[in-house]
Amino acid sequence: MSLVLKGGRVVDPASQRDEVADVVIDEGRIAEIGKDLKGDDTLDATGAVVAPGFVDMHTHVREPGREDEETIASASAAAAKGGYTAICTMPNTDPVADSASVVETVWALGREAGLVQVVPAGALSKNLEGLKMADIGEMARSAARVRLFTDDGRGVQDALFARRTMEYLLAFDGIYAEHCEVDALAADGQMHEGELSAKLGLRGIPAEAEELMAARDVALAKLTGCRLHLLHISTAGTVDIVRRAKAEGLRVTAEATPHHFTLTDAALESYDPMAKVNPPLRDDTHREAVIEGLADGTIDAIATDHAPHAQEEKDQELMFCPPGMLGLETALALTVTELVHTGRITLSRAIELLSTTPARLLGLEGQGALEVGGVANLCVFDPAAEWTVDPAAFSSKSRNTPFAGRAVKGKVLHAFFIGRQTVRDGELVIGELV
Ligand code: DOR
Repeated sequence: MSLVLKGGRVVDPASQRDEVADVVIDEGRIAEIGKDLKGDDTLDATGAVVAPGFVDMHTHVREPGREDEETIASASAAAAKGGYTAICTMPNTDPVADSASVVETVWALGREAGLVQVVPAGALSKNLEGLKMADIGEMARSAARVRLFTDDGRGVQDALFARRTMEYLLAFDGIYAEHCEVDALAADGQMHEGELSAKLGLRGIPAEAEELMAARDVALAKLTGCRLHLLHISTAGTVDIVRRAKAEGLRVTAEATPHHFTLTDAALESYDPMAKVNPPLRDDTHREAVIEGLADGTIDAIATDHAPHAQEEKDQELMFCPPGMLGLETALALTVTELVHTGRITLSRAIELLSTTPARLLGLEGQGALEVGGVANLCVFDPAAEWTVDPAAFSSKSRNTPFAGRAVKGKVLHAFFIGRQTVRDGELVIGELV
């Protein structure tokens, strides 16, 4: 039973395609792309964009350990609804994903859920303590074939540990991914350090807490030749560090989150725990620099840092509530609303940031491109559709978003994962293989 997606704007930055065309899906693959195509079944995509499924480089799934907040199945459902066909899961679970057995469990649970490709990241250090190396080789060779390693949630404080780990990762062409944060500078910080933190009487996290580690890691990447990926970069200085590293030809990449290009520290004026996140929301100068970095190619990917937290834990004074916010179900809309409709980036660049480049960086075959004969991982979205963010409608198990009630444009209509429809008219479905 073939299916033809009729009359959508087919945008695939990998092949530089951007044209109104039909796409035929058959036997789990893209059978044809062109004009006036026929299939056994038809889905009208007029006015919508047909794009490769999105790939999130940064998802916290909370399984194992905090299944009350998110499971691999619920994160997969949230991801599919957001137009994703692959998510890279962060290792700060309980137990930590620092061994082959944990990453293989995450990988297997992802396959069982069957809604997106679940690609586990492994820890750099045992139990994220930054002291002893995790079982990197075993994770790389495991069924999960781990490629990206990070202690995300924490920065690696010890420069020698960072250097040795980078050297070791070279053997697997692994990616050293850093949560850039110098603890000594960031300790007990609740928000970005600036005028507003002083006014609110909250301890701040200076931009330099991120920038010092970013600069150190770039120096070590140069020394070792290791691939370096800087997670959720949030400051003008870090954008500049990445820009210069790229100009030097170093293997350095970076991602930015929708909340860092959408919000500023002003969201904390009411001491709203939903706006507490790490790295913190910065001021407008930093936000602008991040947008500039996304536009000019310095920043390679938009990643969500989807970080589910239980309501009772978020409902505490700022000082005690955990940092983090959901991202999978709002990323496309925030990208389209804040960056595309404002004319800061093109739609094609948005798709490159959400899909093409993250798929390439993670080395995911069958993701991030629309090609005849390729695996049918794709999404269809209406860039003009207006909707209001309603956390109650999320497929995530958690509700912690600062975007509740926000009017946005850009809605996922349909998604297909290996030729099975996972989202139809914005709702989750478990479709038959097309
Ligand atoms: O805000 C954050 N929350 N930043 C991180 O790096 C970790 C994440 C979490 O796991 O909740």
